Amino acid sequence: MASNYRLAILSSSALLVLLLLDPTLGALVQQQPLLLKYHNGELLKGNITVNLIWYGSFTPIQRSIIVDFVNSLGFPRAPLPSAASWWKTTEKYKGGSSALVVGKQVLYENYSLGKFLRGRHLLALASKFNDLDSINVILTAKDVSVDGFCMSRCGTHGSTRPENGKRRTAYVPFHQPMYGPQTPPLIAPNGDVGVDGMIINLATLLAGTVTNPFNNGYFQGPATAPLEAVSACTGVFGSGAYPGYPGRVLVDKTTGASYNANGANGRRYLLPAMWDPQTSACSTLV
Ligand SMILES: *[C@@H]1O[C@H](CO)[C@@H](O)[C@H](O)[C@H]1NC(C)=O
Ligand SMILES: *[C@@H]1O[C@H](CO)[C@@H](O)[C@H](O)[C@H]1NC(C)=O
Repeated sequence: MASNYRLAILSSSALLVLLLLDPTLGALVQQQPLLLKYHNGELLKGNITVNLIWYGSFTPIQRSIIVDFVNSLGFPRAPLPSAASWWKTTEKYKGGSSALVVGKQVLYENYSLGKFLRGRHLLALASKFNDLDSINVILTAKDVSVDGFCMSRCGTHGSTRPENGKRRTAYVPFHQPMYGPQTPPLIAPNGDVGVDGMIINLATLLAGTVTNPFNNGYFQGPATAPLEAVSACTGVFGSGAYPGYPGRVLVDKTTGASYNANGANGRRYLLPAMWDPQTSACSTLV
């Protein structure tokens, strides 16, 4: 079901818990018709490799939750509602129909660039892989801080395009969000508040990357601070959402965990709503 609400100021859905707990945030919300304009640029199409660059310490379980998530986007056999059906909404964007698959991974467990990363560090990490049609995702551990990140947002994406114009690499610097106290009714579906928060950010960034890879695809507002496919729907997770309430989600009867999407390997995820170009509204899975 649709919701036309969006948050005017906050652009990070990783702030989900903070949004829920802060009663003053309602004042920031503007209710407006939601239209993401198409700016006539190229969208990412076809098979896209998602390379994962892990910076800092992650446990193997944390890494598998994220790898399974990316693979879930192309795993139609999962029961509905599924992460694959969520990703299918990106096919409604003009010129875009992409299938993501996890490609290479590299682990920087040695913190060789330190624990405070600046833009040039992110670029150096992002250029680790130079594959055609790839998205390089940099995931930073909790004890790493990134210049300017997680003050107003916890993730961004950009692109590099060498002179021949053929190579397309989008990069997604990415930061594990700081979380406030986790209170009912939303309980992290994979039992890891940090990583489940990262999934929300990663989902947001991947959808934004394929539908607005070079800042001339689909977005609303200024190109420098665009609201994209999912960031335009911040705070909406299920039907009936309103500012401060994420909407209806499914609840795992044994663990009490909140989720709205099934994925590969029996995993469950909590995915944010995505703007649907056919209805001009934020579309939710449940
Ligand atoms: C994507 O990969 C699948 C399976 O490997 C292949 O069947 C399909 O033709 C590829 N699509 C494109 C657009 O390259
Ligand atoms: C740190 O790890 C990366 C990735 O495994 C490796 O390429 C690099 O050489 C290592 N640096 C040091 C100083 O050990």
